[in-house]
Amino acid sequence: MSSKQSMTSKLDAMAEHAKRNAPSEDELLARTIARFEKSKKDPNHIENWFHAVIANGIRHPKTQLIPFPIEATIAILKEDQDAFFGCKELDEVEQAVKRAFDTFGKDALFLKNSLYSGKHTWNRTCHITRDSNIRNHLGQITYEWLMRSPVYATHMVVRELIETAPVFHAFGGTPIVQEFRLFAKDGKTYAYQAYWPANSILDADTNDWAQKLESISEATQQQMDEMIKGADRVTRTLRGDWSVDFLIDKDGAPWLIDMAVASQSYISPHRIELS
Ligand SMILES: Nc1ncnc2c1ncn2[C@@H]1O[C@H](COP(=O)(O)OP(=O)(O)OP(=O)(O)O)[C@@H](O)[C@H]1O
Ligand SMILES: [Mg+2]
Repeated sequence: MSSKQSMTSKLDAMAEHAKRNAPSEDELLARTIARFEKSKKDPNHIENWFHAVIANGIRHPKTQLIPFPIEATIAILKEDQDAFFGCKELDEVEQAVKRAFDTFGKDALFLKNSLYSGKHTWNRTCHITRDSNIRNHLGQITYEWLMRSPVYATHMVVRELIETAPVFHAFGGTPIVQEFRLFAKDGKTYAYQAYWPANSILDADTNDWAQKLESISEATQQQMDEMIKGADRVTRTLRGDWSVDFLIDKDGAPWLIDMAVASQSYISPHRIELS
């Protein structure tokens, strides 16, 4: 037997082996459903912490949660046009997002899933207008998220777009706004940092972006007091150790926009510890 023939028969044997041992379609579906059920227990999903933001009267954007069924995730993951456009569960989510423009009475809104926004690809993910191709935004957010994490999203989230004063734009369109991440455990804030790390900025639309970033790195005492009060309260209700993100609006008011378990959150080397 020539070496070429021997290689071909080895490859055939390997392909046969892989086919015999590959999980069936039913087995794959059962695994996906089990993964979805496990995903729901992740404390970082918005539905697991947002109730405590509301209960404590902390300023937050008007928010609508739209269930994101497992069928919708599966349809996107197939990377197949027929599956993507033929999924009726995805149709329903798309229609619900489109209705939100009227419900909120706005022409532009913020879109994310229960865990992730895709802020680095702003115009293809989290920033939506009445003219946006919402189906594509749903696909892009889901796809980017699943490239990073084994956890399935439970919801799509439509939020009022907070009016901000960006100091510049980066990543091809993301507004860079004053924001702070506080760390609080069981009702006590113990550290904070400016939200955007300088070494994460790419493709800024101005040369003096580093100075501009520096200019938004400090909060006023009044902003600090309000953010600490909010982070204290929300973590006293939830218990546990959390990162709590606040966005500062164009008038200087902080809005609580996001939370995550502290041990799974980015910690800056410049984080300031509070006594
Ligand atoms: N309602 C909103 N209005 C305007 N801008 C927003 C709003 N919500 C979020 N943003 C902007 O988008 C960014 C990402 O939002 P968010 O924190 O909800 O997403 P994320 O993907 O969970 O981010 P992170 O990686 O910080 O966890 C924020 O830091 C802020 O700049
Ligand atoms: Mg987040």
